[in-house]
Amino acid sequence: MIVIDTVQGMQSWSRDHEDRPRAAVYTMGALHEGHLELVRSAQLNVHQRSGQTPYVIASIFVNPTQFTNSDDLANYPRTLEADLALLESVGVDAVFVPSVEQMYPSGTANTITVDPGSLGDVLEGKDRPGHFRGVLTVVNKLFNATTPNFAFFGEKDFQQLTLIQHMANEFNSGITVLGVPTVRDSDGLALSSRNRRLDDNARRDAAHIPSALMLVRDLVAKGVPVSDALNRAAQVLANTPAISMDYLVVTGSDLQSAPSQGNARVLIAANLNGVRLIDNMEIEIKEA
Ligand code: PAF
Repeated sequence: MIVIDTVQGMQSWSRDHEDRPRAAVYTMGALHEGHLELVRSAQLNVHQRSGQTPYVIASIFVNPTQFTNSDDLANYPRTLEADLALLESVGVDAVFVPSVEQMYPSGTANTITVDPGSLGDVLEGKDRPGHFRGVLTVVNKLFNATTPNFAFFGEKDFQQLTLIQHMANEFNSGITVLGVPTVRDSDGLALSSRNRRLDDNARRDAAHIPSALMLVRDLVAKGVPVSDALNRAAQVLANTPAISMDYLVVTGSDLQSAPSQGNARVLIAANLNGVRLIDNMEIEIKEA
């Protein structure tokens, strides 16, 4: 596994590895099983599609422009040596670890940015204005530095995944952007680098978040109206005072308004002991 820290070096490595498809997995480090699953999915999925084992490029870059709180950026866990060992253990071929100067040569304040449009202002974008502008800007830069054929993102950050797919299409990137199902702990909690900031009590209570999503999923599958299902789940969450819910909504699978029946998504954001957790699940709305 080669570690590359310049954009030029990364582009040149990709040019030298055009004999097989290249798949990218972008991260901000502090890796956990969910990230490793992205790598495994990339290997399996590209092999199934093309019959070839892809080169997997991972990146580790804590992107300053997507943080809306400077404390969050300063406190973001940085575990480079452990991260590299994990990536090597799952067979990553190249890891891109650029500096802020490499990614933002004109400085973060002067960079050209990607406007996410109206989908960037709702749900996570409402609570964190500018967040998705930062995400799309850096992903666009990562696309140009790593030049993959495929890029894999976790479904846990469903709004991020949707926006990146939209950007890849709008900008004719030629990159196939694919989502990977969320990896969960045994009690259902979605894996996230933020979970390590939960104390024991908060960690126990956090399991109510996926339970609420499953309740909505099961109720609408039985034909209970979406609004009633959401109310029931919100009531259950209200019984756990440590959880302060920000949103619990059902949308279409494109994050636009929910269909009256068929495939949709239930999404949640909640704060627990000052830690913001998000999650979502695919649901099937049965005609009432
Ligand atoms: O999901 C993440 O870890 C980040 O938002 C990403 C996609 C690596 C961009 O910085």
